[in-house]
Amino acid sequence: MTKEELLHLLHQMTTQEKCRELMQLPMEAFTDTDISTGPCEDLELTDEKMAQVGSILSLTGAEWTRKVQEEHLKNNRLNIPLLFMADIINGYKTIFPIPLAQGCTFDPDLVRQLAEAAAREGAAAGVHVTFSPMADLVRDPRWGRVMESTGEDPYLNGIMAEQMVKGYQGDDLKEEGRLAACVKHFAGYGAPLGGREYNQVELSERTLLEDYLPAYEKAVRAGARLVMSSFNTLERVPSTGNRKLMREILRGKMGFQGVLISDYAAVKELIAHGLAENEAEAARLALEAGVDIDMMSRCYSDFLCGQIERGEVAQELLDEAVLRVLELKNDLGLFENPFKDGSPEKEKELLLCEKHRSLAQRAAEESFVLLKNEENMLPLSKEETTAFIGPFGEEKGLLGAWALFADREDTVTMKEGVERLCPGQIWAKGCEILEPGQKWLRGYIPITEETWKQTAETAEEKLIEAVEAAGKADRVVLLLGEQELESGESGSCGRIGLPPSQMKLLKAVVQVNPNLVLVVFSGRPLILTEACAYAKAVLFAWMPGTQGGPAVANVLYGCSNPSGKLTETFPYHMGQIPVYYSDFATGRPQMPGYIDIPKEPLYPFGYGLSYTEYAYSPVKLDQKVLDSQTDVIHASVRVKNTGSMEGREAVQLYIQDVKGSVSRPVRQLKGFQKISLAPGEEKEVRFEIREEMLRFWTIDMEYRSEPGQFRVWIGTDSRTENGEEFYLR
Ligand code: GLC
Repeated sequence: MTKEELLHLLHQMTTQEKCRELMQLPMEAFTDTDISTGPCEDLELTDEKMAQVGSILSLTGAEWTRKVQEEHLKNNRLNIPLLFMADIINGYKTIFPIPLAQGCTFDPDLVRQLAEAAAREGAAAGVHVTFSPMADLVRDPRWGRVMESTGEDPYLNGIMAEQMVKGYQGDDLKEEGRLAACVKHFAGYGAPLGGREYNQVELSERTLLEDYLPAYEKAVRAGARLVMSSFNTLERVPSTGNRKLMREILRGKMGFQGVLISDYAAVKELIAHGLAENEAEAARLALEAGVDIDMMSRCYSDFLCGQIERGEVAQELLDEAVLRVLELKNDLGLFENPFKDGSPEKEKELLLCEKHRSLAQRAAEESFVLLKNEENMLPLSKEETTAFIGPFGEEKGLLGAWALFADREDTVTMKEGVERLCPGQIWAKGCEILEPGQKWLRGYIPITEETWKQTAETAEEKLIEAVEAAGKADRVVLLLGEQELESGESGSCGRIGLPPSQMKLLKAVVQVNPNLVLVVFSGRPLILTEACAYAKAVLFAWMPGTQGGPAVANVLYGCSNPSGKLTETFPYHMGQIPVYYSDFATGRPQMPGYIDIPKEPLYPFGYGLSYTEYAYSPVKLDQKVLDSQTDVIHASVRVKNTGSMEGREAVQLYIQDVKGSVSRPVRQLKGFQKISLAPGEEKEVRFEIREEMLRFWTIDMEYRSEPGQFRVWIGTDSRTENGEEFYLR
């Protein structure tokens, strides 16, 4: 459609039809199940509403989306097609590593490929929009959704979010295999007080602008067609009713012109926040804030029309919102082809295809972080007998909490992965993943009594069997971690570590065999201080996805050299949280920070070992003074693989502004390059340092650089001291 045709369509719509176009219903409204309960319970659905609704959440599958779209077009007076939106966060059917693991690859090109593959599968299943990338910056691993972020750094998060948008959207949404991207959750959702889900966010304006907004902005400027409002408040104003945040910052300063969708029922939640007295006021506040689509509440659908007709809410606000939604549908080509790419044949060809599985495996291998490797415990030798002990041996829940459309049966387990590579090893479960008596999983998913009865009866015999297995082997690989649903939405935990029954297994096993390798599956950093002390090698595998088993097996046996680097700090102790690398010197940097625990984390941002070693030459600068906005300093190092195995290294560049009109972080990531090096090979890695990299929000809240002394480091993690100085004139 042309813009004129869209405007003509808009003017044909009644006010009520416009309000309903802004409503998003859950897939349950379109299944045959009883809609008087569950998520539709208080939506008071009618045939008329259903005919006029604009979009649907989580309804996927080529046949089903086509059927629902056909039915809808028959009933919609003006033939306006539905938008199908879904959370395709780390893959649709082929599940890739969780986003936090993807960040640890330090490989933006790979992350873009994963998004492209996810889009191909989701589009074939009839989906038009994915609620990804999640660009929330997170510095508190108690918050369950850290698994959905790419970590604690604004620069890296921005690059990864940008690449995900490009991977999903390509250059033209009408292209086959493309999804519109929705960057979320705007804004600051990753910083809830106490790490407590949905809690208020207390950030200074400078911290918000400096650290928390850049990644969203990068995704918006990459062309993300939607943004989702966050559940939290900022300055005690809920994002979904926050005009300053949405109209001044998002649409004004960032220039966002796409569709702003609320998070799940967040419009109605303005009542619970105490911002709105009722659903009518909630609808008004959200529309005035610039929210276009009301996900999963009936505020817009049932309480906006009257207010518009009585002149209490401006008609223009409604029209601009509806036009943005119609433009999105038009840019997806839905008026010409309401089914877009939904095709059962395409589903058969693409879902879980070999190409996507091998991409998933490669990404998983690149995402693992080798935290410790003493006495060359890794890689394992095929000539030796290894006992694989732990509840993850045959676990299929390796996909993470947002693998909503995957079938766990498609997961290739650890045991299947190892058996393909090196059959005949010893296996023992040792204990369950969940702690006996644990009542809930994230989102308060109850754990049945039946689970605990079985566990309690067999716990002792499982432990004895595992200890016997350990005693028969040359080396032991312990497969431990958190259940895949423990991290994710509503997954804030006051304790983040291996549960007592897993620690009991570890301590029992290490008594009979000290040659212990620990592999940890988790959606978040865990407090591993005690566990790591017992193990000679530790590999952090995150939630690795469909091909997790073979990927871990390949790395354990040295077929693949681990190259992941942490994008989220691993605390030494819970008491350190929040702890992150780009913090501030304070007035007494020499002080210990605590009297009872160290100030330093267990493992810092950017850290990750390899089976080989890399030698860095001193940093070279081709000049030491940057004297204009057009000037460039070329910084370089030579990196040599001094070991005997080829590998990939994420070379990182950090900069410190030594003095500013406000305190500046001790260092900030400003560049990284992942390079491959054969044994003995040396490469020069070059970075450009430009004035715009040095800009920040100054004392007078201007975004600019300030002249003076800077330090630059280039090395293997955020603690590197391999540095030089330069000046900005
Ligand atoms: C959830 C999440 C959001 C997701 C949406 C739709 O509550 O906060 O990330 O996209 O609802 O499922």
